[in-house]
Amino acid sequence: MVDLLLGQVIRFRDMPMTDSANGMEHLTHGAIVVKDGHIAAVGPAEDVKRDWPQAVVHDYGNKLISAGFVDAHVHFPQTAIIASWGKRLIDWLNSYTFPEETRLADPAYAEAIAESYMDLALAHGMTTMCSFCTIHPASVDAFFTAAQKRGLRAMGGKTCMDRNAPDGLRDTVQSAYDDSRALLRKWHGQDRLSYVITPRFSPTSTPEQLRVLGDLWSEHPDCLMQTHLSEQTDEIDWVKSLFPQARDYLDTYEAFGLLGENGIYGHAIHLEPREIDRLSELNAGIAHCPTSNTFIGSGLFDMAGMAGRTRVGLATDTGGGSSFSMLRTMAAAYEVGQLRGTPLHPAFLWWLATQGSARTLKIDDRVGNISPGMEADLVVIDLHSTPAIRQRMARAESFDEALFATIMMGDDRAISDLWINGKQRR
Ligand code: GUN
Ligand code: ZN
Repeated sequence: MVDLLLGQVIRFRDMPMTDSANGMEHLTHGAIVVKDGHIAAVGPAEDVKRDWPQAVVHDYGNKLISAGFVDAHVHFPQTAIIASWGKRLIDWLNSYTFPEETRLADPAYAEAIAESYMDLALAHGMTTMCSFCTIHPASVDAFFTAAQKRGLRAMGGKTCMDRNAPDGLRDTVQSAYDDSRALLRKWHGQDRLSYVITPRFSPTSTPEQLRVLGDLWSEHPDCLMQTHLSEQTDEIDWVKSLFPQARDYLDTYEAFGLLGENGIYGHAIHLEPREIDRLSELNAGIAHCPTSNTFIGSGLFDMAGMAGRTRVGLATDTGGGSSFSMLRTMAAAYEVGQLRGTPLHPAFLWWLATQGSARTLKIDDRVGNISPGMEADLVVIDLHSTPAIRQRMARAESFDEALFATIMMGDDRAISDLWINGKQRR
């Protein structure tokens, strides 16, 4: 069967500058052909309809068709403790996160949370996510099973921690290596799933554990590795006290083989010049988590400074992040930019939430944009989804303005439809 979707279309020819729409292409009356799970054609509606007369037409009117959102860093196990009050990172981990992650020792609970997380993510237009799981292998099985059932391109891994975490939430040097390797062999490359080697962050791993995870990565260099970097100043002081030999926080990864182009470093807010140079030289990935960085009180990531230097994607970081919505996350990225005096253009924000995140996760040849040959993961956005947005739309004089109203005020009500791997969800 061949499907033909009609509506407005947003796609990217190139990465836009942080403050301009260069690189974005907008079709007011566009069409996308979906065939065998892939995009077969995209262009002005009249041309595409003429070329594909046999296709089944799905007319979305003036709604906007985009590549599905890609969340570059999320913790699905924290779904039930999102919006926990009053703590900064280390206390927040100890008070809310670790007790909840301990509950995922029960495989039935892990499965329930994975299901609930996936339903929420899809309701918010997310078609790919890269998630931390818990130390429990069954939480990884729960995550990948829930993603596989829905046909998603999804990435994730067992979070490894062998110190500075409570009883019941620590593994060991050996079990971190053995379990990660077994899960990698079980899931990596199954359908649309990829395994990601996942030390939580330097403070919760001994040097020996970091070393064996670096060894595992060197045995499977095609895998991504994800962790956290320089999120809060207290955390950085702690890292320096735990690793007195290290030149800086990034060095605690580099010293153990955990720094490379296939690494994705969450937050990366308070970087020293050497760290910025090193991340740039290697073209390493950074996940910008703006709702989390304001919610936990971490700081203001320098998007305008980093975007041209290395690969940066956008991430909810749920449940340190305060929303499942990529629209809300784009809005927070805009607000953080404003506080730094560098307003981010709506085209750049949209690119970040789709192709930018896909590029960070090294899957931008498959998802994150609408081009022939790409996998057909699409979200259909209602640009008039609430009374407040409708009122603002009456004054919008350009597509950029229309897009920005939904970025700043939209939520799951703006998500009209979803296509995953060429199949319509709703
Ligand atoms: N640093 C280490 N673990 C976490 C986590 O779960 N959330 C956030 N935001 N930062 C972390
Ligand atoms: Zn995180």
